[in-house]
Amino acid sequence: MYINLPSKNHYRRPASYASKGYHTRRMAIDYAVPLITNVKNAKMLAEALVRKSSLDVSSIDSKNSYLTYSFPGLVNIAAFVPNLTAAGNQEWSNVTEASVAAGFTTAIILPIGSDNMVSDRRTFEQVRSNISSSAHCNYALGVTATAANAQALNDEIYLQTKALFIPAHTPLSAVAAHFTAWPLEKTIITNAKGSDLASILLLASLHSRSIHVTDVQTNDDLLLITLSKAKHLKVTCDVSVYSLFYSREVFPSTTALPTMAEQKALWQHLDKIDAFSVGTTPSRLAIDTGKVFSPTAGLEEILPLLLTAVIEGRLSIEDIRTRLHDNPVHIFNVPEQTNTHVEVVLGRKVPFRSRTGSWSPLGSQLVAGVIHRVMVQNQTVYVDGTILSSPVGRDISATIVSHVLPKEIVAEPLPAVAAASQLSSSQPQSLQAPQTGHISMSSTPHPSFHRRHILSVRQLTHRDLHDLFSLAHEMRLQVERNGVLDILKGKVLCTAFYEPSTRTSSSFEAAMKRCGGEVVPITIDKSSVVKGESLPDTIRTLSCYGDAIVLRHPDIGSAQTAAKFSSVPVINAGDGIGEHPTQALLDVYTIRSELGTVNGRTITLLGDLKNGRTVHSLVTLLCLYSVRLNFVAPPSLAMPHAVVSAARKAGISITICESLDEVLSQTDVLYVTRVQKERFENEQEWLHVRDAYRVDHAVLSRAKEDMIVMHPLPRVNGTSDM
Ligand code: NCD
Repeated sequence: MYINLPSKNHYRRPASYASKGYHTRRMAIDYAVPLITNVKNAKMLAEALVRKSSLDVSSIDSKNSYLTYSFPGLVNIAAFVPNLTAAGNQEWSNVTEASVAAGFTTAIILPIGSDNMVSDRRTFEQVRSNISSSAHCNYALGVTATAANAQALNDEIYLQTKALFIPAHTPLSAVAAHFTAWPLEKTIITNAKGSDLASILLLASLHSRSIHVTDVQTNDDLLLITLSKAKHLKVTCDVSVYSLFYSREVFPSTTALPTMAEQKALWQHLDKIDAFSVGTTPSRLAIDTGKVFSPTAGLEEILPLLLTAVIEGRLSIEDIRTRLHDNPVHIFNVPEQTNTHVEVVLGRKVPFRSRTGSWSPLGSQLVAGVIHRVMVQNQTVYVDGTILSSPVGRDISATIVSHVLPKEIVAEPLPAVAAASQLSSSQPQSLQAPQTGHISMSSTPHPSFHRRHILSVRQLTHRDLHDLFSLAHEMRLQVERNGVLDILKGKVLCTAFYEPSTRTSSSFEAAMKRCGGEVVPITIDKSSVVKGESLPDTIRTLSCYGDAIVLRHPDIGSAQTAAKFSSVPVINAGDGIGEHPTQALLDVYTIRSELGTVNGRTITLLGDLKNGRTVHSLVTLLCLYSVRLNFVAPPSLAMPHAVVSAARKAGISITICESLDEVLSQTDVLYVTRVQKERFENEQEWLHVRDAYRVDHAVLSRAKEDMIVMHPLPRVNGTSDM
């Protein structure tokens, strides 16, 4: 047993990674020595020893008389919002509020239905403005493939969406054009059926594309999907939960449901179904049976229906978790939400009661499972019928999707005949839940980083940062102990810097070498770029030689372009005045290491906020924390409007001013940037602002004693030699 009470240090919090105390506490954990770090606990232990009390500690914290279970935040993979593109549509808020209350903390919006097509920039912007600041859960947008828009879905739309939806009956020539144009990292989803589905699966196979089929109802479609999986095609599918519980025999006026025989087949072959969805089935059922139609239809019934099936022995809790969380997270590359879960109570029979009072096929039937509480990032957003959520949902559309589906979801290759005969086997073959979460140097790959392009910080979540920083810390300790590791032995990194760089280029090179890998650096001014070679051609070539490519380039969006032409991950090391994701990750890691925590801090960004790409990425990352931000710059170098409004939307309190003195005394981190001469069109303008700010001893004497000063470097103006 080791008792080590962290001392209160003026400059560093106890968790600071730099102190000797931290290192010895860390050793206790590494070597599994029981450790007490809290003075009250140490006193209680001493008291217990003196009194010779029994030291048995129960592992149970509390008890109740029902079965309870805690799911991670669920994913609604086919969320339906009626009149999605209608100007000023307010349904979004209701639908996402109902989602949260139903346990869905992430929704993927499918533009299903001819009135709902998001097929061009106008409809896309309309949807974004309808959604703006009104989503209660995290959301991602899908766009609609039409016969004519394969080329029109330009790069920016691609980037800001999660998936391409190919509606049933889309002409095959258009489907083929979309398969060619749509980026490999983003999902394609279709609701095609029968021979349409067969044609799309064939085209997907010819284009080596992965595809998700939503709302499967018939045994024939399921057979097609199983045969495709057997042929190595990366196809996944979902079934609307209503299709598992309601049939046309019970509701003869609708075509939205399967027949009883089809439903029976769905249950028999549940092992072939990767995910459960809500989709349009509940709304179509309400409309077809002449009931008052609610846009939130079906959401609140999903868990009670599925949990009742668990009590009846028809499903397992794992079946639900796999199909409403694990597989959707992988198929759509949904970021994991930290401290987010859905607590359910099973086995207590209660009459179903619709919270919204709208019609439900469940009526007031008894159900054997209800949601007790939904927590999002440690906040209770729903508890026993009461919604406490606010519209703080984030747009996660930009998360980059890898075209490589996890092995667990792609069925093992089987001879086609064997696969077909499996459809009549009653032996369940459930999909393995892939591991997510903490990255360790030796364990399973992390879904947000493994084989992913790192193009923008917008693709990362708070959980990703937490996992990455834990790994970085572990690696830092290992490098301190051993100098060089061998975790990247045999791997080659190609670096292409089209703009000057000292730190970024050498830090990538050093990191690669410290991890046992090799680097092939391209010297751009001695490369074929001088002969006029295009970026796509350079990238195509490098991706044949390396396992990853680091790119710095003067054009905004260049990393995205490179990603389209690369068969290996591309890491954006600065794209013009756009982003600099890895510098921002390092900056957040530094703040965390120096101050112990990012939350609660006031961070002041000073200097060229217009052109400084590091601050653009840093602000986006800081929005994942609870911070206050000050932007101090002359008006001509102010932070771009898009960055400011995204931060405000994320609920960050922002002060914009010209004078550092206005905010200095409140500042915990002063982040200084260089006035970027090379981005100015005329030198006079640069001369006018280049000495706008200077951080020297006089400035520091007016600052908080423990304020830290950061700079991405190079410092050529603005800071005196300190
Ligand atoms: C910066 C960059 O190139 O964006 N430096 C860096 O990469 N660490 C900042 C700058 O050039 O001023």
